[in-house]
Amino acid sequence: MISPESLIDKTAKIWHPELVNIYGDCQIGAFCNIGCFVEIGPGVIIGDNVSIGAFCFIPSGVMIENDCFIGPGVVFCNDKYPPGPKDGWLPILVKTGAKIGAKVTILPGVTIGERTLVGAGSVVTKNLPPDIIVMGNPARRRITSGWGKKETLEAVVDAYQKNEMGIRQILNG
Ligand SMILES: CC(C)(COP(=O)(O)OP(=O)(O)OC[C@H]1O[C@@H](n2cnc3c(N)ncnc32)[C@H](O)[C@@H]1OP(=O)(O)O)[C@@H](O)C(=O)NCCC(=O)NCCS
Repeated sequence: MISPESLIDKTAKIWHPELVNIYGDCQIGAFCNIGCFVEIGPGVIIGDNVSIGAFCFIPSGVMIENDCFIGPGVVFCNDKYPPGPKDGWLPILVKTGAKIGAKVTILPGVTIGERTLVGAGSVVTKNLPPDIIVMGNPARRRITSGWGKKETLEAVVDAYQKNEMGIRQILNG
């Protein structure tokens, strides 16, 4: 079901329109890709060039900026103490270029910083700054063997000071 009130750019690709629910006045920008079994609530705003994997739940109050990757099965939660009144629901903001791994759960009121990568299966409970990798439940920053190596020295020292990694890991890069 695709609401006639929704504003969907003509270049956005919804692979199986009969298998998604897009409610109310939500907005979907240019060159987005929407997989099947996705639910998008009224008022949701999705920017340009955003990929939404199959089985995502994106309720009212969520805003996803341009160039984000939302993996399959990602669940955004807007109601901290369900079932609560609509006026108590909290927004979630995913900033430009952020990448959310498969089956991540994002709790109400959280902002995810630009380009930050959330590892598969994580539960995001707090705001995340830009340009980091987090993983786990609750999602914590971690310097990893992959893309995390590109984090700046400043970020590594910061992580060390917060006791998120050992000195051996720092020396091994
Ligand atoms: C988070 C991620 C980027 C880390 O990749 P990486 O930098 O190459 O990290 P590594 O594979 O070297 O793993 C480093 C450590 O983190 C752990 N780890 C990796 N991914 C994890 C995750 N998602 N949750 C919890 N722990 C994770 C590993 O077990 C390893 O632990 P160890 O040091 O105790 O052995 C990656 O594992 C991930 O989850 N990517 C997202 C995949 C995805 O959802 N894609 C979209 C759908 S296709």
